[in-house]
Amino acid sequence: MSVTTHVAYTLDPSASVHPETLGQAPARGRLKGRRIIVVGAGQRKVVDAEPPIGNGRAMSVLFAREGAHVACLDLNKEAADNTVNQIVAEGGKAFADVVDVSDPAAIAPAVARCVKQLGGLDGMALNVGISHGLSLPKMTVEAWDKDYAVNVRSHMLFAKEALEVMVPGGAITLTSSLASQRSGGRNPAYESSKAAQIALARAIARAGEDKGIRCNVIAPGFMDTPMGRDASRRRSDRALTVPFGRQGTGWEVAYAALFLISNESSYVNGHTLFLDGGHLGGVARGA
Ligand SMILES: NC(=O)c1ccc[n+]([C@@H]2O[C@H](COP(=O)([O-])OP(=O)(O)OC[C@H]3O[C@@H](n4cnc5c(N)ncnc54)[C@H](O)[C@@H]3O)[C@@H](O)[C@H]2O)c1
Repeated sequence: MSVTTHVAYTLDPSASVHPETLGQAPARGRLKGRRIIVVGAGQRKVVDAEPPIGNGRAMSVLFAREGAHVACLDLNKEAADNTVNQIVAEGGKAFADVVDVSDPAAIAPAVARCVKQLGGLDGMALNVGISHGLSLPKMTVEAWDKDYAVNVRSHMLFAKEALEVMVPGGAITLTSSLASQRSGGRNPAYESSKAAQIALARAIARAGEDKGIRCNVIAPGFMDTPMGRDASRRRSDRALTVPFGRQGTGWEVAYAALFLISNESSYVNGHTLFLDGGHLGGVARGA
């Protein structure tokens, strides 16, 4: 896979590209024996002939490579099956489960099914996220509520169930976004729901404290995923200022999730890790 660059800078974008960036690094057994649910483990279809890997699929594949048994939850059976097929083809352990997370009644049974099949639960990556992409003047109650049902309510319900059954010392991650901090996309339901996730993660961390269960947030910036490509098609100037002259990859999001869900981050809790090449900190080209 190549990494898409967007501006002809004098810098060399490939200088920041490593085997990990491309999902080509050897596995190191960092999640050996762990049982993990990934919610939003498929990825959307895009028009590109060779689409890049999405965040949820990259997390699922990486967790399995690192030794976890992974339950791949998604609304789209084909998308979840494709993730599982990739894992199994690499010799990993995974299964798919279909759930519409916008249906609150579907979440507890889905967690129960997965925990039964996994034989327990050590970690949960709440990656699912949607956007109707409506600006404030065009916003509808239906679009607002749907974005919040998927991006916030489902995470709350999954975490509530997980805290009941997860082994002490487990970990939960939420996938927020740089959009939680800025309104560049004129996308208020997405931006505010992504900000709500950060407060929700702190509340989950608080609730998990007695069992030593941690909860942290990954907030990606401009990523070259199928979701990122759809966003770039809507707004061609979206990623002009990306640090390093390239967007991030789904693998880079997955490595951050791997750290936060593994015991390597055992004292990191209620934290938001911005995965944006430094963009939020002002490392933005031509900005
Ligand atoms: N450019 C980026 O990729 C970017 C940047 C910042 C944050 N994020 C965040 O990353 C996460 C998603 O990344 P991705 O690359 O996996 O996206 P994706 O859109 O490719 O995949 C999301 C998956 O969620 C599933 N899904 C959608 N609605 C669902 C529902 N109601 N129930 C169950 N599953 C449902 C879809 O079928 C799809 O397989 C989101 O939380 C998003 O906000 C992405």
